Amino acid sequence: MESMRVKAPASSANLGAGFDCFGLALEDPYDIVDVSITPKGGKVIEISVEGYPIPLDPERNTGGYVALKMMKDFSLEDNIRIRIQKNIPPGSGLGSSAATASAVAYALNRLYDLKLSRDELVRYASLGEVVSAGTPHLDNVAPAIYGGFTIIAGTPPRIYPFQPDDRLGVVVILPRIGKASTYEARKILPSTIDLSSAYRNVGYGSLTVLGLILGRVDLLRDGMRDEGVERIRAHHGFAQLYDEVRMLAEKLGIGVALSGAGPAYIAIAYRDELGSIAESFRRLFEDRDIGCRIYITRMGRGVYEVG
Ligand code: HSE
Repeated sequence: MESMRVKAPASSANLGAGFDCFGLALEDPYDIVDVSITPKGGKVIEISVEGYPIPLDPERNTGGYVALKMMKDFSLEDNIRIRIQKNIPPGSGLGSSAATASAVAYALNRLYDLKLSRDELVRYASLGEVVSAGTPHLDNVAPAIYGGFTIIAGTPPRIYPFQPDDRLGVVVILPRIGKASTYEARKILPSTIDLSSAYRNVGYGSLTVLGLILGRVDLLRDGMRDEGVERIRAHHGFAQLYDEVRMLAEKLGIGVALSGAGPAYIAIAYRDELGSIAESFRRLFEDRDIGCRIYITRMGRGVYEVG
C-alpha cells in the first residue's frame, strides 16, 4: 500500500468584484487528507471523515468525485482510501469543498506519478466543485492548488497566480448561522449586470489586485467592493449584518468582502493590526447576539505533502 498525507488550505473567492475570478489561499484553517492506494483493489473508493461532517458517497464527496474521474481517465484499478480531517467548516464560504477536491487531485497525481501540471490539477479539482456548487468554478481550487492569489481570465479560462505583499494579513469572520449552500447562493444571481455596475467593478477589481501587489491597505479599502453579487446575496440572507460590516470596514480603513458565497467575511489589513480588527468585528456581531468564529491568518501556500 502506498499513501500520502497532504495539507489543503481554505481559500476565499471573489474578494468583492472578482466573482468567479479572484481567489486567495489562506494559511488557516486547513484540512489534512490521507490518500492511500491498495494495488488491484477493484476500483473501490472508500471515504472516511473526522471533524465537520461531509458526504461519504464518492459521487457526492468533492474529493471522491475527483478520484472517480481520475480513476476513469487513467484506467486506475486500485482501491483508493481517502481519510479527511475536515477542519474547514463546510458551507462557510471558505472553500471547504475545493480543499478536499484539490487534496485528492494532488495526492493521486503524486502517488501515480501522472505528471499533471498545476493547471491540469486545477481542472480535475474543479470537477469536485460541480458536486457542491453545480458548476466547475475555479476561483477556490486555483488558489488551493497554486497558493497565494490567483486570477482566472479568458476563454478557456487561464490561471494567473501571484504572491501578495507579505505585510498583509487576513481576518476571517465566520458568523455562527445556518450553513449556506453555494448552489443555492448561485441560483439567486441574475445572468447579467448593467454596464455601469460592470465598469465600476472593473475599477474595484483593479484596485484590489494593485493593493495586494503593493501592500496598500488604502487601495484594498477602496477596491474590495462589488456591485454585482454581494448585495443580492446579502438581501437573500447569505450574509449577515452586511451594511454594518461595510460601515465598520470603512471606519477601520480596511478592505472587507463577503468570502465566496458567504456567510464568512474576509478582511485584509496590515498584520500588526489584525488582533484589534478581529475584536472590532467580534463585538459588532456579539452586540447583535450573533456569535462568530474568527481566524487571524495569512495568505497561504497551495496544497502540499506533509509528513
Ligand atoms: N465564485 C464562487 C461564488 C465562489 O461566489 O459562487 C464560491 O465559493
